[in-house]
Amino acid sequence: MKAFSVLSIYVAIVFLTSHTDAFTRDDFPEDFLFGAATSAYQWEGAADVDGRTPSVWDGFTPIADNKDKGYIACDGYHKYKEDVKLMKKLGLEAFRFSISWSRLIPNGRGPINPKGLQFYKNLIKELLTHGIEPHVTLYHYDLPQALEDEYGGWLNRKIIEDFTAFADVCFREFGDDVKLWITINEANVFAIGAYSQGFLPPGRCSTTKYVKCSTGNSSTEPYIAAHNILLAHASASNLYRLKYKSKQRGSIGFSIYAYGFFPYTNSKEDEIATQRTTDFFSGWLLKPLVFGDYPDSMKRIVGTRLPVFSEEESEQVKGSSDFLGIIHYTTMYVRKSTTTTSSILPRDHEFFTDMGAETIPIGNQSIPWGFESVLDYLKQSYDNPPIYILENGLATNHSSTLQDTERVEYIQSSIGAMLNAIRNGSDTRGYFLWSMIDLYELVAGYKLSFGLYYVNFSDPGLERSPKLSASWYSGFLNGTVVVAPQDITHPQSHFSGSSSM
Ligand SMILES: *[C@@H]1O[C@H](CO)[C@@H](O)[C@H](O)[C@H]1NC(C)=O
Ligand SMILES: *[C@@H]1O[C@H](CO)[C@@H](O)[C@H](O)[C@H]1NC(C)=O
Ligand SMILES: *[C@@H]1O[C@H](CO)[C@@H](O)[C@H](O)[C@H]1NC(C)=O
Ligand SMILES: *[C@@H]1O[C@H](CO)[C@@H](O)[C@H](O)[C@H]1NC(C)=O
Ligand SMILES: *[C@@H]1O[C@H](CO)[C@@H](O)[C@H](O)[C@H]1NC(C)=O
Ligand SMILES: *[C@@H]1O[C@H](CO)[C@@H](O)[C@H](O)[C@H]1NC(C)=O
Repeated sequence: MKAFSVLSIYVAIVFLTSHTDAFTRDDFPEDFLFGAATSAYQWEGAADVDGRTPSVWDGFTPIADNKDKGYIACDGYHKYKEDVKLMKKLGLEAFRFSISWSRLIPNGRGPINPKGLQFYKNLIKELLTHGIEPHVTLYHYDLPQALEDEYGGWLNRKIIEDFTAFADVCFREFGDDVKLWITINEANVFAIGAYSQGFLPPGRCSTTKYVKCSTGNSSTEPYIAAHNILLAHASASNLYRLKYKSKQRGSIGFSIYAYGFFPYTNSKEDEIATQRTTDFFSGWLLKPLVFGDYPDSMKRIVGTRLPVFSEEESEQVKGSSDFLGIIHYTTMYVRKSTTTTSSILPRDHEFFTDMGAETIPIGNQSIPWGFESVLDYLKQSYDNPPIYILENGLATNHSSTLQDTERVEYIQSSIGAMLNAIRNGSDTRGYFLWSMIDLYELVAGYKLSFGLYYVNFSDPGLERSPKLSASWYSGFLNGTVVVAPQDITHPQSHFSGSSSM
């Protein structure tokens, strides 16, 4: 039980009240970047325009009923100038977007599509002209369908070469103007959602309570996909460092989705389950990136189903991320699972039975102590890496009600939590709200929205209107909004994030 020795000290949960002081934009370092985000398939639309070919997302049938999917979305492809004006009005310092692989390189491999290339050059130029820094994600769930059909996409090592070639085109064509790159968006949720639970494209799983998949294997595929994702990231990152970094002077990072996790009770079992859950969710990808191998707890539990890094691969992956991109929305309680891997259905492995814990949502509002605990965990467990918060925000029903007070409350409480963490030593360097405007959402379609701008999706002109949160954010960014002091009730944190490696 070496792996759990760090948890041998019993700690009772005591509820504390802490306090955040009033703060403004000026309490953050001047070079701290505040921005907002979108992604290609959710914003661009123009799905079959100017030579783009389908991605796995185009043909995927999501849970929510949304028959038109991202076919038109916000039509950002045609309206990018209008949207950059809105960003300027907001006072955004940076804009995070992703590049549609199958728009730039139709079918995933081979010749560049000149019109796709021109679109991204135009967008980047428009941003820079308005003083907004581009923050580019290469891969946001939208594998060219052709590569999925040809060899099974991320399940096949061929993806490493094709992804690297795609990244090469992006670095070469856009790299003089782009200083911040993310290779792969929230890789952990991608691997789990697409290959264990089947609710994200390409929708593979054994069978789960959510979805019946026509094909897949939840006991092996999420681990294989994640392994190839790490190798593809490392390959692209190493290429950037060898060929471009000295001239272009940018940095390249990886991203994961990070929940705050907190034991449901103060029992030893829940505490151990919380540690294991943290290993499975975050350590799975971050331990290889920072230390070169998977967490011990995963190796022990997943056994031969967990791919093994060769020594050379381990060296390539280790240290391949200049910074960590973190996507954070909420915090969950963790309880030891009542059905463990070995007891009831020994052959029915999937990611969550391997993890052996249940997660219980606390709510959908901002949990500031949870966000702080995530940043503290990253600081303590991974040698205080530079961090960009790539997504944070609140979903509400898509509605023309522009008074989104609850979103404003969420954002200010999150930013306050981040400021506390920075003051306590976290090297967090940027914050991107999800989302800049209402988008086509991955699971919820057009039913839920996170935008600072409302989009009327019934209007042929897709009219945009600023919500209260837009004027709040612009006021915060121009320094006129002072966020009032807040009292925060939270369990005393023993979420130390201690490594189990
Ligand atoms: C999944 O893969 C494992 C390991 O190769 C195998 O034992 C199992 O039968 C497969 N399950 C399904 C549903 O194909
Ligand atoms: C957020 O949580 C509240 C209370 O639990 C619930 O009423 C509301 O519908 C939730 N909103 C969304 C968008 O899930
Ligand atoms: C959001 O929409 C759902 C389903 O349409 C509805 O049940 C719920 O009451 C709505 N929530 C709010 C806060 O309007
Ligand atoms: C602040 O940082 C110290 C040292 O890294 C850590 O022990 C402590 O838990 C952190 N406090 C919070 C509230 O995260
Ligand atoms: C959305 O657009 C439709 C069609 O143009 C229009 O009838 C409707 O009033 C608009 N809704 C809002 C809230 O502006
Ligand atoms: C700051 O932003 C707010 C909200 O958009 C706006 O009303 C105000 O005029 C701006 N002030 C300055 C000094 O730019």
